[in-house]
Amino acid sequence: MSNLSVELNRLRLANPILVASGTFGYAREMEAFLPFPQLGGIVPKTITQAPRRGNKPPRTVETASGLLNSIGLDNDGLEVFLAKHLPYLLSLGTAVIANIAGHDREEFLRMAERLGTFPALAAIELNISCPNVAGGIDFGVDPVKTESIVRGVRAACGLPIIAKLSPNVTDIVAIAQAAAAGGADAVTLTNTLQGMAIDWRRRRPILGNVVGGLSGPAIKPVVLRMVHQVARRVPQLPIVAVGGIASIDDVMEFLVAGASAVQIGTANFYNPGLAGQLVEQLGESLRQLGAQSVTEIVGTLQLA
Ligand code: SIN
Repeated sequence: MSNLSVELNRLRLANPILVASGTFGYAREMEAFLPFPQLGGIVPKTITQAPRRGNKPPRTVETASGLLNSIGLDNDGLEVFLAKHLPYLLSLGTAVIANIAGHDREEFLRMAERLGTFPALAAIELNISCPNVAGGIDFGVDPVKTESIVRGVRAACGLPIIAKLSPNVTDIVAIAQAAAAGGADAVTLTNTLQGMAIDWRRRRPILGNVVGGLSGPAIKPVVLRMVHQVARRVPQLPIVAVGGIASIDDVMEFLVAGASAVQIGTANFYNPGLAGQLVEQLGESLRQLGAQSVTEIVGTLQLA
């Protein structure tokens, strides 16, 4: 038996395979597809303090090798999440990592303080990188804002903190360093890459919000490069990788590059049982490297 457990500072997971925010709802609709306790964890859809209706449709469009979305953080707000979704999520026998977005630093802190009163949560993931709402991406492209939000949340709440970063930056290492300086237990690399789709016959953008965020296989090499850079340059900061993971080979590439855990995102839309299948396949891939545990292979990329 392989040891699949991983530790990301204060966050301990039974295995490194999580499902990504925005691709798994609040889990109810996924019940038929996989046994939840098999997962390393669930990250439900981002919640905001107040309910949000999200952006104008169309809000998704399939491209050649990825999905563009401009959902706009459609959700029922923090209090409905706590009353309606959290009790169910916490009954599922797996780690639950609440994902939050504030419209400013103070709102992040208020939400984190409230969530801190639910110690059964495994962690909070800070969405400082949504490209689809006014101001959303501004936090995660600015090292000063990133550090300040993470530091404030760390002081406001006792739960482990993961900062979800944006790939829409020139220097991901600087942002990761800022998250580490603020006290993040880990970073999630990455949110979606800004993109666009056009209907040339109508001379119109396809998305109602004009631009959106690209996810899926198209962004995997970009994210792999960022995981590699952050793992080398900020070695004390554990990484959760998300970006185009669709097979056990993808999982292994990210672990070897330096991720301690991964999230399955876009692939959930066409194979909702995938994360469970990957957990089952992980032991065999570790054996192929002569490893008995996940931690043995994290960041073992050979450059020479
Ligand atoms: C959205 O709701 O617009 C997607 C979430 C995100 O990109 O952070």
